[in-house]
Amino acid sequence: MWQIKKEGIVMAQNDLHHICSFCKRDIRITSQYDLPIFDPQTGFAICKDCVKEIYQLISDNEEENAEVIRRKFINDLDGVLDKNKPHIIKKYLDEYIINQDHAKKILAVAVYNHYKRMKCMNKGDNVEIEKSNVIMMGPSGCGKTAMLSHLAELLDIPFAVTDASSLTEAGFVGADVEVAVRNLYYAAGKDVEKTEHGIIYLDEFDKIARKSGENNSITADPGHEGVQQALLKMLEGSTVEFTARGQRKHPEAPTTKVDTTNILFIVGGAFVGIEKLIEKRLKKDDSAIGFGAKVKNKNKETKYDELIRKVTPEDLMKFGIIPEIIGRLPIICTLETLDEDALLRILTEPKNAPVKQYEKLMAVDNVELEFTEDALRAVARKAIARKTGARSLKGILEEAMLDLMYELPKSKLHRKVTITAECIEKNEPPKIEILKDNGINKSKTAGKKTVSKKTVNNKAENNFAG
Ligand SMILES: Nc1ncnc2c1ncn2[C@@H]1O[C@H](COP(=O)(O)OP(=O)(O)O)[C@@H](O)[C@H]1O
Ligand SMILES: [Mg+2]
Ligand SMILES: [Zn+2]
Repeated sequence: MWQIKKEGIVMAQNDLHHICSFCKRDIRITSQYDLPIFDPQTGFAICKDCVKEIYQLISDNEEENAEVIRRKFINDLDGVLDKNKPHIIKKYLDEYIINQDHAKKILAVAVYNHYKRMKCMNKGDNVEIEKSNVIMMGPSGCGKTAMLSHLAELLDIPFAVTDASSLTEAGFVGADVEVAVRNLYYAAGKDVEKTEHGIIYLDEFDKIARKSGENNSITADPGHEGVQQALLKMLEGSTVEFTARGQRKHPEAPTTKVDTTNILFIVGGAFVGIEKLIEKRLKKDDSAIGFGAKVKNKNKETKYDELIRKVTPEDLMKFGIIPEIIGRLPIICTLETLDEDALLRILTEPKNAPVKQYEKLMAVDNVELEFTEDALRAVARKAIARKTGARSLKGILEEAMLDLMYELPKSKLHRKVTITAECIEKNEPPKIEILKDNGINKSKTAGKKTVSKKTVNNKAENNFAG
């Protein structure tokens, strides 16, 4: 709408002149930029200097607004810090994860420090707080992945799990390491700022160990060292560029850039075989000093737990992790093998315990479900035999429950089903009783069961009485 037209401008001595409607100065026009805004119909015009001044005012105001947003972010951080004190985080994790107290503490502190670090950086402090990336080691099915996903639920910050074993060096068939950041970006609802403060959990991290590590005899290495080098860049803090999900990488593809400097990295894995490296080193150390002190030979699991607690960066290096990466993972956190008692508790205690879930499911069909303690112990023992920690608990229960879940909905009668050790061990059918109260009490008793045998018996008596 605004444009310079010669006709509307005062001509004097071959010079073009016009009055700026804003500063009222008489402006000599040598180019159209001297009077960027001009309406020939009304003669309204704004000179170059005024436009510059207005521009300055606007950008100052925008900066102020940005500062307000930044301050809000810091204030939010105060709230986040208040809500996420280490003991509060641990208490939350306790509701879902059995044992692993040490790991819970380490994670709780690491996350809390992650936020503290953000706060200090926002203040422009010149004391730089280093990132506290964590490496978690523990046998399969001891709760590593579970712990981190519950942590993510609590913190309400972007958190993404990426299976490191699926990553390959650029050029190899498979996912590039950028995928880990892209997963976080999607978890953050495609918000770059949020992504840059999130947490990346690299699961199965031990699977990218260099094959030439002492632990492995195979010489072929499908780019594992390359993967580690690429991950190292991310850990050190770099700008990672990635295309949208499902989009192939090509020069014209639009990309998103994310700075990884402030992303907290947690890596975890079972590191199968590292205990042998540790034992070897300990023996060497011992003989060097001249003492015969050995790791007490208890059962295999206790020995594994004892050894793994003594892990050092050198052991990880021998395992095949490059030293630069180990240097970027200053916090080593070991988890314990779960024994029968722990597995028993996992079946019944957590908020989302499998037994609680089955009780809920059965209640829908007017069935009260009861596991005897012996039955649950049998489930735990089966899981231990499968050597996958708590991971196989659900599968074992599912096997035992399938026929029931198929048959029971056929009737609407109020029933009580008792699963005994024989059901688990010998595939015997469970005891099914028909209760006479027509289901009046069903919601009262469901979901309140404990494992202790005494309570189991008492409950059975009560149900017969009612
Ligand atoms: N300590 C634990 N407390 C409660 N549940 C657990 C624990 N450890 C494992 N589980 C359960 O077992 C399953 C497998 O655990 P997961 O965390 O995936 O093991 P991993 O350590 O191999 O990552 C999950 O469903 C999880 O809920
Ligand atoms: Mg896992
Ligand atoms: Zn002016």
